[in-house]
Amino acid sequence: MKPIDLVEKAKEATAFCYVPYSKFKVGAALLLKNNTVILGANIENSSYGLSMCAERNALYHARLQGYKKEDIVAMAVIGDTKDFISPCGACRQVMSELMPKESPIYLASKTMVIKTTSIETLIPFAFDGSELPTL
Ligand code: THU
Repeated sequence: MKPIDLVEKAKEATAFCYVPYSKFKVGAALLLKNNTVILGANIENSSYGLSMCAERNALYHARLQGYKKEDIVAMAVIGDTKDFISPCGACRQVMSELMPKESPIYLASKTMVIKTTSIETLIPFAFDGSELPTL
């Protein structure tokens, strides 16, 4: 699947956004090795801090369908933005743990400006939990 096609899937995902507070739609699409595409959309809450971003929803959705990190090929994200969307810090942290580090990430704008990037560019020196005490 070409990057633009995955971005189109991310755009389709925006149909599932629930954004009564920000009115800012974000869609995400994860391409898996078996060619399945898992969608994510931002879902907000009147208790604002409980809102969940499109990127994390896509990654959690994939886990809940039984897929693992190594099944993921790429992610596309699209926002209601003039320039390509820039994922929030929380999503970058989750991406760094749940996606293979070589996966391309396609960040798109509503005008289809597409920036191809990587986890390491988005979150250098990510916390990786390797020094957490074992219980
Ligand atoms: N949001 C995302 O879903 N992904 C991003 O990369 C940036 C922000 C959402 C969170 C909230 O629902 C809305 O966009 C405004 O911050």
